[in-house]
Amino acid sequence: MKTIIQKVNPEYFEDSELEAASRILQTGGLVAFPTETVYGLGGNALLPRAAQRIYAAKGRPSDNPLIVHIAEMDHLFDLAEEVSDKALALAETFWPGPLTMIFPKKESVPASTTGGLRTVAVRMPNHPIAAALIRQSGVYIAAPSANLSGRPSPTKAEHVIEDLEGRIELILDGGRTGIGIESTIVDMSGDMPVILRPGFYTKIMLEGVIGRVSVDPAVLLTEPKEDITAKAPGMKYRHYAPKGQLTVVEGDMERVVAKINALTEEHQSRQEKAVVIATEESRQFYISEHVYSIGSRKTEGSIAAGLYDILRLMDHIGAEFIYIESFSEDTLGSAIMNRLLKAAGYHRIQV
Ligand code: TXA
Ligand code: MG
Repeated sequence: MKTIIQKVNPEYFEDSELEAASRILQTGGLVAFPTETVYGLGGNALLPRAAQRIYAAKGRPSDNPLIVHIAEMDHLFDLAEEVSDKALALAETFWPGPLTMIFPKKESVPASTTGGLRTVAVRMPNHPIAAALIRQSGVYIAAPSANLSGRPSPTKAEHVIEDLEGRIELILDGGRTGIGIESTIVDMSGDMPVILRPGFYTKIMLEGVIGRVSVDPAVLLTEPKEDITAKAPGMKYRHYAPKGQLTVVEGDMERVVAKINALTEEHQSRQEKAVVIATEESRQFYISEHVYSIGSRKTEGSIAAGLYDILRLMDHIGAEFIYIESFSEDTLGSAIMNRLLKAAGYHRIQV
C-alpha cells in the first residue's frame, strides 16, 4: 500500500486539507493524525473492520482496547451507557485535553474496538487537527498511539513514517506533539475512580475536582509482579523499549554520575557501545563519548516532550547499553518514571 504523507499546519489550515483523510476514515481506512499527546492511528470506531485493520497495522494483540476520540460532549452519550456526575465534572474541567475516561459501553460500540471488554475508553483531544478531523469526517475515531506495538509512541510524523509507512492510507504531518506522553486514563465505570495510566493530569489535579481517586496497583510497581495485572490491558505489555538494554539509575546526582561513569568504563573495556541520557544539569560530568541531554530538570514538560524521541534515537545510533537518570515522582515525574521503568523492563540500579 502506498501511504500518502500530507503536511498540515496546525495553526492554520483549510477544511479542504482534511478532505482526503475524512473520506478514508468514512470508508473504513486508516489515517494517522497528531494529538496534543502523541500521534494516533485512527479508524472508524463503529466499524469492526476498521478496528481489525488497526490491530493488524500495529501488530497489536486484539485484546488491547482502543481509545475512541470525540469532538463534542454530546458524542460521549452515543458511546457511554452511563456517565456519572464525577465523570461529567472531569470532562467539563479537562476536556478537550489529555484525559481518557472508561465507561460502560453502549451496544453500538463493537467488541473489536474495546478488545472484547464491556467498557469503552473515550477522550476529547485538544489539538486543532484532531478536532477538525473528527468533526469533518463525522466519524468517532478509534485511535491507539501510531507506533508499531512495543515501540515508543510517536511524537513526530517521522516516527509514524518509520513504523507505519506502507501499512496505512494516510499520515497527517502536523509537526511535533506538545505533551509527548499519552493521556491520563481514569476508569469511571465503578464506584471509585481509578487511575490506570498516569499522564499530564495528575492524581492531585483530578482529586481537586472530584475528591478521592485511587491508583491501579500495577501503575505503582517498580518491578513486575506475577499476581498484579494491569487493568488497562495495554499496560501489561513490554512497551516503549529501545533495542539496547535501558537501565534507570536512581539516587543522589553525584553517586548516579559516579556509578554510570564506572559502568561506562567497563563497557568501554569490552568494546560495547554505552550511551548516557543525561539532563542539562548533569551532562558535563559524564565521561562517556555518547552523552545526550533530554532537557532541564527545571522544565519537566520538556523532558516528557522529548522522551520518546530520544528512546527512538537510541536505536538509530545502535546503543547497546543505555543509562538514564531517574526523575522525582511528583507532577509529571510519575508519568515519566512509569514510562521509563516500562521501557527499561524495570531494569534499575539504586545507588
Ligand atoms: O494520549 C493518548 O491516549 C493517545 C492518543 C492517540 O490519544 N492514545 C493512546 O492509545 O495512548 P493506546 O491505545 O496506545 O493506549 C490506550 C490504553 C491501552 O493501555 C489500553 O489497554 C487502555 O488504554 N484501554 C483502552 N480501553 C480500555 C478499557 N475499556 N478498559 C481499560 N483500559 C483500556
Ligand atoms: Mg500505545
